[in-house]
Amino acid sequence: MKPRQIREKVYWMGAVDWDRRLFDSLIPLPDGTSYNAYLVEGSEKTALLDTVDPNKVDVLLSQLQDVAQVDYVVAHHAEQDHSGSIPQVLARYGNAKVVATPKAKEMLIDLLSIPAERFLTVEDGQTLSLGDKTLEFVYTPWVHWPETMVTWLQQDRILFTCDFFGSHLATTDLYVTDEARVYEAAKRYYAEIMMPFRRVIQRNLDKLEGYKVGLIAPSHGPIYDRPAFILDAYRDWISETPKNVAVIPYISMHGSTQRMVEHLVSALAERGVTVYQFDLAVTDIGKLAIALVDAATIIIGTPTVHVGPHPNVVYAACLANALRPKARFASIVGSYGWSSKAVEQIAGLIPSLKVELLEPVMCKGYPRKADFAALDRLAAEVAEKHKTLA
Ligand code: FEO
Repeated sequence: MKPRQIREKVYWMGAVDWDRRLFDSLIPLPDGTSYNAYLVEGSEKTALLDTVDPNKVDVLLSQLQDVAQVDYVVAHHAEQDHSGSIPQVLARYGNAKVVATPKAKEMLIDLLSIPAERFLTVEDGQTLSLGDKTLEFVYTPWVHWPETMVTWLQQDRILFTCDFFGSHLATTDLYVTDEARVYEAAKRYYAEIMMPFRRVIQRNLDKLEGYKVGLIAPSHGPIYDRPAFILDAYRDWISETPKNVAVIPYISMHGSTQRMVEHLVSALAERGVTVYQFDLAVTDIGKLAIALVDAATIIIGTPTVHVGPHPNVVYAACLANALRPKARFASIVGSYGWSSKAVEQIAGLIPSLKVELLEPVMCKGYPRKADFAALDRLAAEVAEKHKTLA
């Protein structure tokens, strides 16, 4: 796509990656993604804000073909989907400086071998004049690496946020046109990338409160011309109080755990709890991550494989532990043939979850009357616990 004007002398550049289906060799991208860069032309200097993933560098260089001079390349974040084309941009513009936090400078030298003399480091709150346009740099650490910052374009009231508020969404729409669709993509993005840093994000949001933002321009997904939409969503996602929601990631080999989960889901629903059930043999882990944003309770369902939990369950437990959702309660249900240490092993996989462990329900073979009664007891306990949420 060609550059697109956002404001006078401010342009979107970058690449829409329609076909990418996996990020970090981990995160599913059902809707592709984009790598947004932005060009700000002041009366004296020109700045490029972020670049693109190296596999799209040709797109960016082509968009820059009529730009005679770039004085600054602002690197909000050192991850290569934004920084990976900086070396090629620096090669084209021999006098350009990379504007970054000291931490980002260090990381970009490590990751991309950019020479130290090509950097201009900036402090939190520092401004950089482009003539009739002024860039103000605001440190926003841990969204989602330690070096991250955002840029406030004072005259045009645009906040360039890189990953912060981003969404993995390939679209030709420059601005959000379908809020429901972007909400899902942005929540998925938050869940997979930002959720572990919930409390730091709270501080970053507070810090940005004083800015009268007209546009939020992230480096993934469309631009927010109604910033309150994404700011309100983030406030909700990072809030301390989980919702009356239970998430049940499970897997079943011969139907016993499946039957238990079905019974439990029904028992919880009868008691007014919203439940999301995910079969780990087929589920999109992004959907699971989204559900974890609001959940008060996580109940893991597993059969026993060689005494321990099923490997897919181990994977999901490790993932949940890494994402650190705000759930307050957890339990385990499942089955075994002769003996099981699945409960102890799963409990050992989730040390970062600050949850109260509710009494698990493990059954020998196919579930029977006493097992269903135990599942009813668990459902009742979850429902009661959820009444205490505040
Ligand atoms: Fe879009 Fe953390 O990179």
